[in-house]
Formats: sequence, C-alpha cells, structure tokens
Amino acid sequence: MANTILVGAQWGDEGKGKIIDVLTESADIVVRTQGGNNAGHTVYIGKQKYVLHLIPSGILRPDTQCVIGNGVVIDPIGLVGEIDGLLKMGVKVNGNLFISETAHLVLPYHRELDAQRENLKGKNKIGTTKRGIGPAYGDKAARVGIRVIDLINPARFEPVLKARIKENNEVLKAFGAKPLSFKKVLADYRAAGDRLQPFVTNTVVMLDQACRRGADILFEGAQGTFLDLDHGTYPYVTSSNTTAGGACTGSGVAPNRMDCVVGVMKAYTTRVGEGPLPTENAEISDLLHGMGREFGATTGRARRCGWFDSVATRHATMVNGIDQMAVTNVDGLDTLETIKVCIGYRVGDTKYDYIPNDIEVLVQCEPIWAEFPGWRTPTQDVRSWKKLPVKARSYLNAIAELSGAELAIVSVGPAREETILL
Ligand code: GDP
Ligand code: IMO
Ligand code: MG
Repeated sequence: MANTILVGAQWGDEGKGKIIDVLTESADIVVRTQGGNNAGHTVYIGKQKYVLHLIPSGILRPDTQCVIGNGVVIDPIGLVGEIDGLLKMGVKVNGNLFISETAHLVLPYHRELDAQRENLKGKNKIGTTKRGIGPAYGDKAARVGIRVIDLINPARFEPVLKARIKENNEVLKAFGAKPLSFKKVLADYRAAGDRLQPFVTNTVVMLDQACRRGADILFEGAQGTFLDLDHGTYPYVTSSNTTAGGACTGSGVAPNRMDCVVGVMKAYTTRVGEGPLPTENAEISDLLHGMGREFGATTGRARRCGWFDSVATRHATMVNGIDQMAVTNVDGLDTLETIKVCIGYRVGDTKYDYIPNDIEVLVQCEPIWAEFPGWRTPTQDVRSWKKLPVKARSYLNAIAELSGAELAIVSVGPAREETILL
C-alpha cells in the first residue's frame, strides 16, 4: 500500500473511520497525527459498532500497530477510558498501541476555558466539542503546554502542573468559574499517567525504523479540510492542521516518505458546529435525519446537511494534493429523484471556483447548481462498480471529475464489506 495520508475533504465526519478500517487490511501501522478526542471515528464490524476518539481505527485489526503521534493533544483520562472500553469489547490493545512522548496533554482547565470562551461568544460561538482542544493547542503554541513525557515523570509533572493550575485558576476566576483543585487534578492525572506509561515511546524513531524496513503506514486524518486552522473557514475551525501537511509535522515522518493522499468525502455535505456551509439544504437534512443518520459520533448533535459541494472538494484536492478519492454514504441518496451538485459560487456578478478567504464573502456565496437524475434503487447490497446503477456511476464520475481526483473507493454502507474498490 505504501505510505498513505488519509484526510477528510469536507467538514469532518466524512466516514474516515470506515475507510481507514478498510485500508488497514494492507497497512502495518496506522498513525493519528493531529486533533484530540474531538474526533469520533465510527467503524462497524458486523453489527458491532466502535467509535474511536483518540486511538487510531486500525486498533480493531489485531496485527496492526497503532501510533498516537506528537501532533495529537491527549486527554489522558479520556484515553484511559477509551483503552478500557476497547479491552472490555475484547480488542487487543497491549502491544499494539504506541503513544508519543512529545504529544501535549489536554488538562481540565483547557476544557473549562473552552466552555467559558464559547459562553462568552454567545451567538458567535464556534460550536466546539468542548473537549479543550483550542486551549490545549494554544498552550502548545505559547510554550506553556505539558507533554506526555512530563506526565510520566512524577517529579517533573507535579511542579509544572501546580504552576499551570495557579495561573489558569486566576483566568477561571475572571470568568466567574470555579477554580480547580490542584490535589485532585494531580491525583487523577498521575493515576492516568501510570496506566499510559507502558505505551509511551519515541514514536518518531519508531516510525523512521518502520519506514527503513519498508513498512506500509497509513496516516489517519481527523476532522476535515475546512476545519483546518490555516485552510478552513476561520475562526469556525479546529485548532490543528487537518490537511495533508499535518500528517508530516504531527508524526515526524518527512514529506518525501509519503506516497499517496486519499481524500474521503460524503456523496453529499455535512457540518457539525457553526460557520458557513454554502450548500446547506433543508430537504436533504430532513431526509437524512429522518433515516436516523447524521448525528455526531462525539457530541450526538444533529449534523447540518447539504448537497455535494465540488467547489469545496476541488479546493481540498488543491491544499491536500489528493490523488485518490473515497466517496462514502452513496446509499444516503438512493431515494432521490434529482440530486444537486454545487459547481461554483456567485456573489452578485462575481463568480468563484475556489473557497474565498473572506468569511463575510463566503456567507454571501450562492451556489451555482448542476442537476443529476437520481437512481432510485437501493445500493447497499452492491459490491462491484459494474453493478451500480448507471445513474449512480454517472453521478460519481461527475463528482470525481469536478473534484479533480481519481475515484478509487465507493462506500454504500457503514460496514467493511459494503465497499467497492475500483
Ligand atoms: P469520521 O469522523 O470521518 O470517521 O466519520 P463519522 O464516523 O463521524 O461519521 C460517518 C458516519 O457515516 C458513521 O455513522 C459511519 O458509520 C457512517 N458511514 C460511513 N460510510 C457509510 C456509507 O457508505 N453508508 C452509510 N449508510 N453509512 C456510512
Ligand atoms: P472527526 O475526526 C466534525 C468541529 C466542531 C466545531 C469545530 C471546533 O470525527 O471528523 P473543537 O472542539 O475542535 O475546537 O471544535 O470543529 N469538529 C468536528 N466536526 N468532525 C470532527 O472530527 C470534528 N472535530 C471538531 O464541531 O465546529
Ligand atoms: Mg466523526
């Protein structure tokens, strides 16, 4: 398979977990490189549902090594909970999970500050997952973060935590929020640190050795292109680089070791949280929610839904260098008579074929539509390209051409086998 970076090409929740699970069959190692437990990656094996937040989805295959890279922000208590949840479900974790020494920690004051800042913003809130992601990356950039290597060294962790809690309690008081108890946080985090210690290693050296022996590595992106801190719809974004470059900085694997970029996208568009979504549409939203679909895997919030936006996916091809695309949830469109695709934006007389940087312009963008006839046949049992309805193939070929990448994978259901490899 060679070294493959997998990214979300829309606003997150594209079905990355499912596609990672499929591709992991031919991977030796799966690496998470950014984000934290704001992610929720769903994998079905048979009828059993797994939702991964910090641990790479590759963990569900017993022979795959899984790495949480240096670019991830780790909530140690959340991670211990996730490990225990997997162990209870009979998943092999010991010996398969490796945690970077230099990944930064999410601490309780990050979560509290995330919530306080959202409250303060009122109707301008970002709609974060309230997992403390923004404040944790903020501390990393401000060089006041605490890392895994500190957590597993009790003599170093205690004074550094004390100083950080002292400062953050002043900030929390200014918000009118309750200060944190140093003793309690220390006890909880030390207990989690002891549990995580056996998994902690120098993952940069480990991945370098893997590259040298020719291992196939799959880089599991979290979130999606338009939630990227630099390339997304700022400030309605997350706080990491969700685009392909983040796989290199977040793992220490150099760009010239990467062989392929796979962009995962839904056959339509969704977004959870606030911010512009040019193709948002009530008809498709009602249809999908009515089928019990498109509720967030992490927060349970209803996702906003819209038609496929090829301006966005073409932009995603540009900033990620997407070679191959995986289109998921094709079966979600099975009942429609007509399917719309956005092929450009218009604001007054100005047309755009890329995402404008000015968010005030983006919110004014009116989609320019192309229409495709629906296939009105169930696709969930289809297992080959040839057996897909002709109209579904035409639709998929069209969105691939508009997105500027090669169509490589079509997904017609949440399970492993509900997948067509082209
Ligand atoms: P991720 O964050 O990108 O991994 O995506 P999520 O797991 O948050 O959301 C994707 C949802 O779509 C999950 O409920 C998946 O089980 C589901 N899913 C993925 N691919 C397909 C598909 O082709 N058809 C259907 N019906 N569901 C799918
Ligand atoms: P996966 O990996 C969809 C969104 C939040 C919010 C914004 C900022 O499952 O695709 P944050 O908590 O990161 O500060 O929130 O980003 N968001 C996601 N939306 N899928 C995700 O992850 C997301 N992770 C964060 O809803 O709009
Ligand atoms: Mg998700």
